[in-house]
Amino acid sequence: MTKRQPSQPMPVAVLLSGTGRTLDNLLARIESDRLPIRIARVISSHAGVRGLQIAADAGIDHRVVAPGDYRSVEQYSRAVFESCREVAARLVVMAGFIRFVRIPSDFDGRVVNIHPSLIPAFCGKGYYGSRVHRAVLEYGVKLTGCTVHFVDNQYDHGPIIMQQAVPVLDGDTAERLAARVFEAECQLYPAAIAAIAANRVHIEDRWVRIDPVPNAAPEETS
Ligand code: GAR
Repeated sequence: MTKRQPSQPMPVAVLLSGTGRTLDNLLARIESDRLPIRIARVISSHAGVRGLQIAADAGIDHRVVAPGDYRSVEQYSRAVFESCREVAARLVVMAGFIRFVRIPSDFDGRVVNIHPSLIPAFCGKGYYGSRVHRAVLEYGVKLTGCTVHFVDNQYDHGPIIMQQAVPVLDGDTAERLAARVFEAECQLYPAAIAAIAANRVHIEDRWVRIDPVPNAAPEETS
């Protein structure tokens, strides 16, 4: 990615399909000057969802690109990424987007997603939202969490940028677990996007290297 001045927030397109809590969280971070991005457009795969209302209320350009209007995944993907190009998006942020899209070569390494488990566990086709947490509880793992990753042309497969573990507690329900994982998502996703915006994230095959924050105070040792 080319170097940007800190005064020019990185233009981003957000893809969503539903309630838009992830979008809401990103907007709160931008508002409090903790995330140097500008959401140039919100694209929803579904009409009438709350995510679109959040975009409208924030005065953000928003539109529906519905899979049903296209004959194939390829055609749908072309429409989605053409819409991202129209606003010169440097990064495409999937925020609860549940449709499969093929990534065109000019967006290779420029599309990110957050998934509510520790990939490669409980991920892939059909694993989204509360289904993930139900599967975690059914399996009986003690640790789950969330993963921010680059998106490639396989479900939940691209190089992993950051992960945050969340313990599974005795007596957890899918709803309680989902709420704690979502709290972790609200920290992790903005942190990963901010690192990308600052050009600190480098993809080396499957490994993602993140430069330390410049001038960060050294960690204290006791
Ligand atoms: C989030 O928990 C996100 O991790 C998950 O959907 C939720 C979106 O909530 N994404 C996936 O499961 C992707 N496989 P939102 O629509 O309210 O932002």
